[in-house]
Amino acid sequence: MSLYEKHVFVCENQRPEGDPRGCCASKGASAFTSALKQMVKDAGLSKKVRVNKSGCLDQCAFGAVVVVYPEGVWYRGVTADDAKEVFEQHILAGLPVERLRLKRAEKN
Ligand code: FES
Repeated sequence: MSLYEKHVFVCENQRPEGDPRGCCASKGASAFTSALKQMVKDAGLSKKVRVNKSGCLDQCAFGAVVVVYPEGVWYRGVTADDAKEVFEQHILAGLPVERLRLKRAEKN
């Protein structure tokens, strides 16, 4: 049994500048996290929807990377500008945002 209806993990892993792997922290991950957390709070859904920052999700080339459970839907290249769409379309309506999805064939 899941404690939350939706559990969102946002990679905020940080690596030194110049690291060839890059990192999600340098691609705006924390701004996405903050925006999404605020939307969840404003909607009064904090007991049903949990947004956590995570360490590296091993898909660094596609950052910033997000995964939403229980569906296990992965998103790639998210920015704070995408938070509203993810919130309204996926978290509230249950429909993954197809244009942001990280497809199985793309994964490392
Ligand atoms: S640094 Fe974000 S997936 Fe690796």
